[in-house]
Amino acid sequence: MRMTLHTLHRMAQEGGRIAMLTCYDASFAALLDEAGVDCLLIGDSLGMVLQGHDSTLPVTMRDVAYHTACVARGSKRAFIIADMPFGSFQVGPAATFHNAAELMAAGAQMVKVEGGQPMVETIEYLTDRGVPVCGHLGLTPQSVHQLGGYRVQARGESEAKWLLAEAKMLEKAGAGMIVLEAIPAALARDVTRSLEIPTIGIGAGVDCSGQVLVLYDMLDIYPGKKAKFVKNFMHSAGSVQGAVEAFVKEVKARTFPGPEHSF
Ligand code: KIV
Repeated sequence: MRMTLHTLHRMAQEGGRIAMLTCYDASFAALLDEAGVDCLLIGDSLGMVLQGHDSTLPVTMRDVAYHTACVARGSKRAFIIADMPFGSFQVGPAATFHNAAELMAAGAQMVKVEGGQPMVETIEYLTDRGVPVCGHLGLTPQSVHQLGGYRVQARGESEAKWLLAEAKMLEKAGAGMIVLEAIPAALARDVTRSLEIPTIGIGAGVDCSGQVLVLYDMLDIYPGKKAKFVKNFMHSAGSVQGAVEAFVKEVKARTFPGPEHSF
């Protein structure tokens, strides 16, 4: 039976950890399902790891809808989240809803939008109309040019306070989950403790409700420079299946991420 947002909320409330990986095609979707991954994210990271761009900015609605349909066909169990690509959710409420609906029709159970306070209205609009939304705070790769590079966020006291405030705003607006990327582990722990909804960390320490990595990073397929928070799970595994199973096991046991993957 397929996981639901309700199942994931219950898992987090009971202290279990959510294992999420990015996924872009049917064969990997079946393998990740079999290995016990709870959530598959059709991330706009596909622009970098599949298409060879140097950022996620060129990814289109058509790209994400296509890969979402592939993943949905290949998986039976995992909860499916689709990224809303850059420019697809900054187009006014009705057009944003239309784009989100296209991803839901392709097989997503939730859409993800990057950003804090400016996303409050969008999240309210979508969730009021039956579209579950995952927020994304901290390092938001679609804003790479504004952030001045892929760097750790909210290291200072005032930025940390603001990120915590934004997380609460997103939850109040109706977000069902929040990804926290590249922020200090202590801040991610405080955010997680302050919210009812699950947080999913990537470079945010071990105290989030779950963890996500880009599949091609943890399998060491992507040729680009690896972030500190990436662990190469292929290193000690005999197979792709073994590497994914090790990721799930370490997330559930809270042994990944270690201090060496955290800020
Ligand atoms: O696009 C993506 O893969 C993501 C994850 C890094 C969270 O947003």
